[in-house]
Order: sequence, then structure tokens, then C-alpha cells
Amino acid sequence: MRKIITYYLSASMRIKKTLWRMMHRFIINKYEGSELVFLNYGYDYLDSNNESLKLKDIDEKERFCLQLYHSTVADIELKNKDVLEVGCGRGGGASYITRYLKPKSYIGLDMSKEVVKFNNKYHKIPDLSFVVGNAQKLPYEDQSFDAIVNVESSRSYNDMDAFISEVHRVLRPKGHLLFADIRTEEENELLRERFKMAGLKVIKEVNILQNVVKALDLDSERRCQLIKKKTPKMFHGLAEEFSSTKGSQRYEEFADGSMIYMQYVLQKE
Ligand SMILES: C[S@@+](CC[C@H](N)C(=O)[O-])C[C@H]1O[C@@H](n2cnc3c(N)ncnc32)[C@H](O)[C@@H]1O
Repeated sequence: MRKIITYYLSASMRIKKTLWRMMHRFIINKYEGSELVFLNYGYDYLDSNNESLKLKDIDEKERFCLQLYHSTVADIELKNKDVLEVGCGRGGGASYITRYLKPKSYIGLDMSKEVVKFNNKYHKIPDLSFVVGNAQKLPYEDQSFDAIVNVESSRSYNDMDAFISEVHRVLRPKGHLLFADIRTEEENELLRERFKMAGLKVIKEVNILQNVVKALDLDSERRCQLIKKKTPKMFHGLAEEFSSTKGSQRYEEFADGSMIYMQYVLQKE
């Protein structure tokens, strides 16, 4: 499995795009939107006194994945703002933010046209739309957005500097990048420097690894059931790895701390 991940990370943009398209196509064919609209590891609160996020019944089954979005954007008021999400996947985060936090407009961008088509059909919500695009070359004019959301998508970008510079370009002055993704400690040191060098000021930086592991612990059973229900047996191992269920290599890397999970709030200077 480590070999597959290493191959994927070092592959060209064209190969990554093909792999994601295959993955999205497979998921679209197998899973209804009502079963699965998130593709992230999730987040749970560590403090048991923390009042839990109030959700509509329809959002309960993917609560942990939704909480990852909530905790990533919670520090910044998005009401009446123009927001772009880069790497929106199946649109669960975009739907949550648009319905609950009421931005003026929300665009979910993803490089896979299959998933964008699925999203535009499944998430029919006023002020929300989805477009095909590449994180490293955003199809927007300078200073178009008040905030950019980026959840669990960036680690595989071939040119992270190009992404950060595009974020800086399309953000309005004082606009925010709300970011969450996995890194090693060393990769994170580099990432922080890259943000600063590009003119994005670090307002908040937090390692949420324990929150993510807690969510995976509580959500593993649901993830395994979803895999067992629809994925051919020969792909169970791969699917469990992708989903980071208990016992997967990625879960172990989280548990032993060799991978960390970083959340940033950044502001254009
Ligand atoms: C692990 S999924 C996360 C999806 C979503 N953010 C979530 O949390 O459910 C990563 C997403 O990033 C998209 N992606 C990867 N590289 C991209 C790029 N260069 N430009 C745009 N989207 C990209 C993939 O197609 C995939 O939908």
C-alpha cells in the first residue's frame, strides 16, 4: 500500500486526474448521494463538554466528515461572502456551508468532471454551483473571493507553490484561506514557510490529529459497512486504505504520529 501511495504522490497531473476520475466514476456508480457526500477522514471534538454541533437529521450520518469542514471554517464569518472551495469532491462540505452558514455565493471546484456533474445534479441549492478546474490554475479573475476553502485535497498537488500563488491572486485583500490536510512534520514546516513567502499570514495553525483519530475510531464501522455493501471483495483492502479504517496503514500512521493533520486559517496580507 505504501508503494501505491508513493506512486500516486509522484505521478504526473495527467495520471492523478485519470485516477481520480476512475475513483469518482466508481463511487458515483455504486453510492447514492444520500449515502456518501464526503471523502475525508473526519473530525470529532475532544472535550466531552463541548456542545455538539446541531445538525438536521439528513446530515447526521456523515457527522464526523461534516465536522471537519465546520472546524476548518468556524473561525471566519462566511455569511454574505463570496466563497470558492478547491477540491470539493462529492460536495458535502459545499452543501453544508451553503445551507448552514449562508455565504452570498459558493463555488465548489474539482478537477474531475464526473464529480462536478454529479454535484450539479445532486446538490440543487440556491447560491451553490460546481465547476471543473485545476487548483494550480484557477479559472477566475484577480480578487474574486472573500474566502477559499481547501479540505484534504492539497497533498497531491504537483505544484503546491502554484496553488498558493493562485489562492493569493484570486483572494480579495484581507481574504482568508481555510485549509485542512495531512502532512509529515517536515512537510508542514515547509508548508508554513510557503504560505508566509506567498503573502498569506498565519492567523491560526493547529494539529488536529487527535480529533481526526477520534473520528476515525468512532466512524470506522460505518465506513467498513459502506465498503462491504458495494465494493467487490478484491478491492476491500484498497477501499479500507482509502477510507483509513482501523487497521489500515494510514490509520496506523496517524496513531503513531508519523503523519499529522494540519488546519490553518490564513489571511491575505
Ligand atoms: C480526498 S478528496 C476530498 C474531497 C472533499 N474535500 C471532502 O473532504 O470530501 C480530494 C479531492 O480533490 C480533488 N483534486 C485533487 N487534485 C486536484 C487539483 N489539482 N485540482 C482540483 N481538484 C483536485 C479530487 O478530484 C478529489 O475530489
